[in-house]
Amino acid sequence: MNNSIWRKKPMAAYEADMKKSELKRVLTKWGLTSLGIGAIIGGGIFTLTGIAAHDHAGPALALAFVIAAIGCTFASLCYAEFSSILPVEGSAYAYSYGTVGEIFAWLIGWNLILEYMMGATTVAVAWSGYFEKLVHLFGIELPVTLMNDPYTAGTKLGVDGPVPAFNIAAFFITWIVTSVLVRGIQESAKTNNIIVITKLSVVLFVIIVGAFFVKTENWHPFIPERVFDADGKGHFGWDGVVTAATIVFFAYIGFDAVSTQAGEAINPRKDIPFAIVASLVICTILYILVSLVLTGMVKYDTLDLKAPVASAFADAGLPWAVFIITIAAVAGLTSVMLVMMLGQTRIFLGMAKDGLLPAFFKTIHPNFKTPWKSTILVGLIVSIVSALTPIDKVSEMCSMGTLLAFAMISGAVLLLRYQQPDIERPYKAPLIWFVAPMGVLFNVFLMTQVRRETWHAFLIWSTLGILVYFLYSRNKSNLNKN
Ligand code: ALA
Repeated sequence: MNNSIWRKKPMAAYEADMKKSELKRVLTKWGLTSLGIGAIIGGGIFTLTGIAAHDHAGPALALAFVIAAIGCTFASLCYAEFSSILPVEGSAYAYSYGTVGEIFAWLIGWNLILEYMMGATTVAVAWSGYFEKLVHLFGIELPVTLMNDPYTAGTKLGVDGPVPAFNIAAFFITWIVTSVLVRGIQESAKTNNIIVITKLSVVLFVIIVGAFFVKTENWHPFIPERVFDADGKGHFGWDGVVTAATIVFFAYIGFDAVSTQAGEAINPRKDIPFAIVASLVICTILYILVSLVLTGMVKYDTLDLKAPVASAFADAGLPWAVFIITIAAVAGLTSVMLVMMLGQTRIFLGMAKDGLLPAFFKTIHPNFKTPWKSTILVGLIVSIVSALTPIDKVSEMCSMGTLLAFAMISGAVLLLRYQQPDIERPYKAPLIWFVAPMGVLFNVFLMTQVRRETWHAFLIWSTLGILVYFLYSRNKSNLNKN
C-alpha cells in the first residue's frame, strides 16, 4: 500500500468515473464561454465596487480591476493548461489529485470550499441589497435590522458595535436556491444563455447609458490622497488601490467554474482552455468600463454601498433604469449563487467518492438523484453566515481561499512541465517560465494585502484542514484499498 501523502489517483480511475457519469457532450466553446460569464458577473461588479471605490480606491477603481485582472490572467492560463491535461469534472481538485498528489489536492479542495461556499455567501448578501432596492421601488421600506447583519445594522443605526439583527433576505434566498438544488436542476445551456444575455445586456446598458451621465470632474483626483481614520486605518492612495484590487478580485472568480463542465464539453481539451481565457477577457473589459462609468456618474464618496450601480442611476434621475438594473441584478445574482452552491456540492461529492470526506457528502437522494444531504448542509452554513456577517468579511475569506488555490495551480503547472515533460498538453500556457512564477507571486502578493483579521480566520481554517487530512482523510482514502 502506498501511504505517501503525494500518492496520485490513477488515470484508470478517472476514465472509470467519466464513463459512469454518462453526461451528454453538447457544449461548444462559446457555450462554455457563456457558462463562464454566467458564473463571473455577479456580486463583484454589482455590489463590491461600491465599497472598493468609496473606502479604498476612489475613481481609481478601474485600476484596481486592472491589477486584479493581471493576477487572474496568469492563473487562468495555468488553469487552462491544467484542464487540458486532464479533462475531467471536478475542477482543480481533480486535476491535482491525478497529477501532483493527494495532500496537494486536499489543500486545493479545502480552499475551494472557501471559494465556493464563502462566494455563495457573499452573493447572498449582495442579493439582499438589490432586493431591498427592488421593494423600495414599490414604496416598501424593510426594517434595517431585518435586512442587515448585526454589524452593518449597528453602523446604519449609528451605534458603535453590533445590534440584534438578522439579514432575513440573504437567509431566505439561500434556502430557495438550496431547495432548487435538492430537487435537481437540469442546468440546461439554454436557461444559462438567457441569464447570461440578460446580464450582459444590463452591463452594456450601464456602460452605454451611464456614459451620457459621466461628469469628468468626478474623476479628479483619480487616486485620492491617502488618509487615516480615527482607528488608524488607511484609505486611498496607491495602497488603497491595491486593497481595492483584493476586494474586486472577487468579481473575477468563476472562470474556473468552466472546468467543472468538462464532462459535457464536445471537445474539452481545446474548448475548456479557450472558454476560461475568453470569459475572463470579456469580463475584464466590461468591468473596467463599468467602473469608469460608475465613478464618473457619482462622486466616489457618495457611492451607495449596498446597490451602487442601481443607486447611481437613481441619482441620475432615471427610475426606470433603476428598475431594469435591479431586476437583472436580482436574477443574475441568483444564478451565480446556483453555480457556486452547485459547484460546492459537486466538489464535496468528488472528494467523498475518493474517500477523503465521509459518505454523508455522497449520499444521493433516491428520487431527485442529487447529493441532498450535503446540499442542505451547504445551505445551512451559507444562510446563517450570510445573515450574520458583513459582506466585505465573507468576500475576503472567499478571495483568500481562491488566491491560494490559484497560486498553487500556477506552481503545479510549472512543476508538471518539469516532472512530466512528455504528457500530452493540447493547450500549453505561453511563456510558462514567466507566466507560472508570476501567477504564484501575484496571487500570493494579493493575499498579503488582505486585512489581518481575515488572515487569522484563514490560518485557523487551514490548520483545521491539515488536521482533518491527517486524522481522517489520509486513513480513509480509496487509495489505501490497493
Ligand atoms: N465573480 C462572482 C461574483 O462577482 C463570484 O459574484
